[in-house]
Formats: sequence, C-alpha cells, structure tokens
Amino acid sequence: MLSQYIEQAAALQKPGQQLAGAIHKWVLQGGKPVRRLADLLHGTWLGHPLHPVLTDVVVGAWTLGALFDLISLRSPSHRAKQAADTLTALGIVAALPTALSGVTDFSTIPQSAAGAGLAHALTVKASLGTFILSLWARKKGQRGQGLFWSALGLALISLGAYLGGHLVFGKRVGVNRSEPLSQPEAWTSALPLADLPEHQPKAVEIEDQPVLLYRDQQQVYAVSAICPHAKGPLAEGSFTGSEVQCPWHDSVFDLRGGHIVHGPSTYPLPCYEARLRNGQIEVRAASD
Ligand code: FES
Repeated sequence: MLSQYIEQAAALQKPGQQLAGAIHKWVLQGGKPVRRLADLLHGTWLGHPLHPVLTDVVVGAWTLGALFDLISLRSPSHRAKQAADTLTALGIVAALPTALSGVTDFSTIPQSAAGAGLAHALTVKASLGTFILSLWARKKGQRGQGLFWSALGLALISLGAYLGGHLVFGKRVGVNRSEPLSQPEAWTSALPLADLPEHQPKAVEIEDQPVLLYRDQQQVYAVSAICPHAKGPLAEGSFTGSEVQCPWHDSVFDLRGGHIVHGPSTYPLPCYEARLRNGQIEVRAASD
C-alpha cells in the first residue's frame, strides 16, 4: 500500500521528525501569544482538532469547482465558468488557515508518523501551488491551462487527503488516546498517603488502569496517567501548582478537572475522585 511505502521511506522519516521538532521548539520559545495561537490552530477550544474541519472547506471548494469546470466544458456557460473560478479562489483563501493548522498539528506529531505527516504536508502544499497557477491562468484568460492545473491540483489534494486519512485512522494522529473511566465505581484504596510525598507524582495501577496520583498543598489529585494526545507518560511530566505538562509534546492539563490549559491535546484528561480515609488515598471513577 502507498501509505506503508511512504511510512517506510527513511528519506522522509528523519527530516519529518527534525522539522516537526524545530517548529515545536519555535512555538514553545515564542511565549504566551504564540502558544495561544498554536492552541487556537490545534483546536483546543473546539473539542477535537481544527484541521480536518478546515480541510473540508478546501477540498469541497476545489471539488465543486472541478464539477463546474466539467459543466462549462460540456455546455459553454459564463455562469458555470464564473462559479468554477470563484470556487478555485475560495479554496485558495481557505487553504491558508488550513495549512497553518496543519503545520501546527505536524509540529507535535508522534515520531512514528512524522514521515507520513511530511508527505501529507508536501502533497497538499503542492496542490495549493497548482491551484494558484490555475487561478492565475484563468485570470489571464488561458482557460485550458487553468483547467490543466486544476486537474493536477485535484489529483494532488486527493493524494494528500488519502495520506491525511492514513494519519488519523492508521496512525491515530489527532484522536483521543485516553480510555473513558468507568472503573472503579466504588471507593478503592490506591496508596497510603505517607507513600505520596508532596510534589512527587506516582503512577499506580487500579483495576488495570494507570492512575497518576499527585499531592499539592494537602490536596491529592488522581487522574489518568496517560496523555490523551499520544499516550505520553504524565508521571514523567513537569508539575506546577495544580498543572501537569506532558513530557512528550508539552500539553498542559489542570489536575483539578482535567481541562486543557495548552495543546496539542484537544481532549481533556480523564479524572478520578480522590479522598483520604484512615491514612489511605482512595479513588473512584468520577461521576459526570
Ligand atoms: S503525548 Fe503528546 S502532548 Fe502528551
């Protein structure tokens, strides 16, 4: 399969990892405004990644534009040509925020998917280039050339969409990697309080679920020990007050309710209820 071939192409894997790492580093060094912009582009406010929402606009506009091009070829109609040109331009305009959100997601892509992510990015950027050429030719009245560039662009964006689908459904990039917490229903002993010194996180297993325990100012937090973004080990992250930062791609969660402080995760961190009884920390799955 093409997607597997691309994944195995070492020529893309290493540069993909290096480029993603460099962009992520730049985002982190950019301070709060850049981090907020990255959150916006990841879709932390949306409840799932923003990028696939925007790609629908781009692919939809260019596909519909191709349909009007076909109609105008069969029966020369000024309105069909105008509709095709407008949709080509609309796709180009929508491609700009789409590309930005894609690059932002790519910056924190899991290492194993970096090669396929780079192939996806290059393919869709090439398609954007061909649609810009198409619009330019259309504006100059060279309709034949415009149709040629659009057809090439449509082939490239289709390949890009195929690779994007592989990233999501094959590599699980952008999907929620945490399990819903339904167990334990009853209060269950997790650890003696004396074994959890303040500010020293501990990962324990409760009913086969990895649970992260953390103590700050006499408050004990119990959350899933697995980052929803790509399963990073949160117990190895850094802790500030009631917040934990994932060691892999720096998502920040508030331990008080699991909500996202910073992406790339667009899914909150599942939380347990925790209490102290007879010197023991007890937890249970939080009721909605
Ligand atoms: S695994 Fe990517 S931010 Fe946690």
